[in-house]
Order: sequence, then C-alpha cells, then structure tokens
Amino acid sequence: MAPDSWVVVGGWGAASTEFSEGLARRMMLHLVKPVFKLFPDDEEYVRIEEDIDNIKGAIVVQSFEKPASRSLVYSILIADALREAGVSNIVLMAPYMAYTRQDRVFLPGEPISVRAVMRALSSSGYKALASIEVHKDYVLRHFNGPTLNMFPFTYMMREAGVSCGEDTIIVAPDIGSLPRVERLARETGCTSYGYLVKERDRVTGEVRLVKSTVDPRGKDAIVVDDIISTGGTIALASQWLLEKGAKVL
Ligand code: R5P
Repeated sequence: MAPDSWVVVGGWGAASTEFSEGLARRMMLHLVKPVFKLFPDDEEYVRIEEDIDNIKGAIVVQSFEKPASRSLVYSILIADALREAGVSNIVLMAPYMAYTRQDRVFLPGEPISVRAVMRALSSSGYKALASIEVHKDYVLRHFNGPTLNMFPFTYMMREAGVSCGEDTIIVAPDIGSLPRVERLARETGCTSYGYLVKERDRVTGEVRLVKSTVDPRGKDAIVVDDIISTGGTIALASQWLLEKGAKVL
C-alpha cells in the first residue's frame, strides 16, 4: 500500500466485512482485514497483521451488529491498535450505531447510554464519526469531533423501485419518526404523510397504539422507522394500517 494514503479497516462481523469491502472498492483504497479472536473466557482479541506504517489515516467500518457490546469493544480495540501503529487520523464508519435509543433518562437510575458510548469512542482515538440514520441527530453531539448522519430512505425507495404516487402515504409508526417521514415526503414529492402515536411500557417493552393522524384507506402505505428490534412497532403499525384499509405495506 502506498505510504501517505488512507486505508479502510474492516471491522468485526458479516455486515462490517461486506460494507468495508464495498467502501474500499468504491473509494479505491486498500482494505486492511484485522484478525478477530476470542480468548477462552470470551474476551475479544484483535490484531492488525499488515504493516501500516506511514499511512495517512484509516476509516474503520464497524457496524454495531449483535451483540452490540462486542462490536463496541472491537471498535475500541481497533482504534487502539491503529494508534499503537502510529495512525492518528482515525474515522469510524458505523453503518448501524447502537446504544442510541437510550438518549435520556426515562426511569430514575438509568444512564444516558449513548453519551457513555460516544465518550468511549472519542477517547479511544476516533476523530470523526459517520453513521446511517442514528435514531436522533442530536445524540451525535456527545461525540467529540465532526459527525455525519446519513439519510438513507430516499435512496432505499429508489433502489426498491418504489415511487410516490397519488395513492401513496408515508407513515411514521411513532412521533419520533415524523422528522424522517417529513424529509422523505419532501425529497420524493409525496404529499400524503402522517404519524401514529405509540406508547411503550418502559418496564415490559410492550407497545400499543394510542392515536393516529393518517387515513390510509385505499392507499399504499410506506412505513418508515430507524430500527426494527423486536418488530413490535412495525408489526403494530402494519396491522393497524391494514385494519384501516391500506392496500399494500
Ligand atoms: C423507537 O423509538 C425506535 O425508533 C423504533 O421504533 C424501535 O426501536 C423499534 O423497536 P421494536 O422493533 O422493538 O418495536
């Protein structure tokens, strides 16, 4: 690899591997593939075997796939290995960024998890952070450095061959998703959109619909959310839309 150039470093897990390969190809950068192992007690181990002396910087691709805690530890260890090799320009590309939901204290005694994680990533050596749809833009302010939150939905609709017609309605399954629905409607020229209001039991995690601002009768409904975890939210919204006469989900 040419000295004074940037490299892409593939993080742990299938999603990170695939994403890093695509990114390196498109950016025409060398792809560094660290070795990932577990010690017998399940502790993570990473090693960058290649000689990366004199490189200018590294883009580490680490999506926070399951278990998120393992992805987090690996991203911290990779940054440390890079610093140890003398690399100081380190950017984290986290296509999926975990820990963003707990962005405030909902019940007394809870932490602000996203703040704790962003602080850990900053202090491990990452100078900049890029992600795709991080739940709420403002969570990135906890990161100490420049950040980028990419909006994927317009691209996803185009790639899926879905366009906005007269009979299309874009629906946010909860009010938190409304800003992304408004933006998607603006970017796709969709005039019909709205949101549902859900309530989540903070202890059991159960969700229920309490209100809606949409009339989906006879319309193709596109439900837009940032995370599907248990599927409870998306299932509830889809079921409600079908019951109210939506054509397609
Ligand atoms: C919540 O605020 C998020 O935007 C998602 O709606 C939520 O995380 C989805 O979780 P689940 O699939 O478990 O309902």
